[in-house]
Amino acid sequence: MEELEKFVFFAGKGGVGKTTCSSIYALKCSERGLKTLLVSTDPAHSTDKILETTLDEKEKKIKEALWAKEIDASKEAVSHRKKIEKEMKQVVGPDMMNKLQGYLKMTHNSPGVKESALLDALIRTIKESKRYDKVVFDTAPTGETMRLLQLPELLSSWSEQLIERRKKNLEKLGRVGEKSKVDLDDDPLIKRLKSRENKLKFGRKVLLNRSSVIPVITPEKLSMLETKDSIKSLEKMGVDIPGIVLNRIASETATEERKSYEKKILNEIKKNMDKKVMGRVPLMEEEIIGVEKLSEHIDELDIC
Ligand SMILES: Nc1ncnc2c1ncn2[C@@H]1O[C@H](COP(=O)(O)OP(=O)(O)OP(=O)(O)O)[C@@H](O)[C@H]1O
Ligand SMILES: [Mg+2]
Repeated sequence: MEELEKFVFFAGKGGVGKTTCSSIYALKCSERGLKTLLVSTDPAHSTDKILETTLDEKEKKIKEALWAKEIDASKEAVSHRKKIEKEMKQVVGPDMMNKLQGYLKMTHNSPGVKESALLDALIRTIKESKRYDKVVFDTAPTGETMRLLQLPELLSSWSEQLIERRKKNLEKLGRVGEKSKVDLDDDPLIKRLKSRENKLKFGRKVLLNRSSVIPVITPEKLSMLETKDSIKSLEKMGVDIPGIVLNRIASETATEERKSYEKKILNEIKKNMDKKVMGRVPLMEEEIIGVEKLSEHIDELDIC
């Protein structure tokens, strides 16, 4: 049995079973006595359906030692914008504020805003997770998760550049005098950018030092190839991927053709990805829904 880091991300192509496997894993951790929080970050939330409950951004107790919540990126983005507006109101006049509000509304739907808000919520979740032994993230399909995990790196250098630019502007405006250091540190925009930069650096540190990413793969060529690529880029960033979980493995009753096709793909997975198989969940006749049914699969995962 492999013990994973405190923060565990289940990743993989769309529909391979990330929500199912992350729920089984979270249940397993809780049954072993670890205080566990399961967090859904996928906009198309299905963790609540798999657990047969309703979830929102507040942590909800599911059973002994297990809590769950979902992060809603759209809601996060709105509260993000409101916070920025409030801060701006303190530094600009009403005329300028009107223009800025229009601008903020316009950028609200631009690419990256939701991801950035989601990342903020994710980092907040990590920061506020001291009372948990394990935090399990059910993520959106591969591409998006990848971007999310890379965001701290991208945004952090972006913040640094913004801080530099702001400093230059203040200097140009002659607002920085002899006691420039004090003045710059008092600037509300620089303060905000610095706190954001620190938060992102913290997020990056946790992702690289205290997280495990577990790709879920089905015995299909497309799932294997897509995941192979994302494993490569995640590992390039320094993210720890201790092994993979195979889901929807053909049962005894599958046709011989299907079984032999799967055998071929599983061999390719072994050859192509130098990764330990840390779980094998069979394809069930029925979906694995509800705590009771999920519990039946706990021993199929070799991780805790
Ligand atoms: N081993 C299994 N046996 C039977 N049904 C399964 C199994 N694993 C997953 N399913 C079903 O397959 C569908 C997709 O699974 P799941 O929602 O866990 O995948 P996902 O990777 O989270 O999908 P998405 O990318 O949309 O978030 C669901 O209807 C789920 O109940
Ligand atoms: Mg899902």
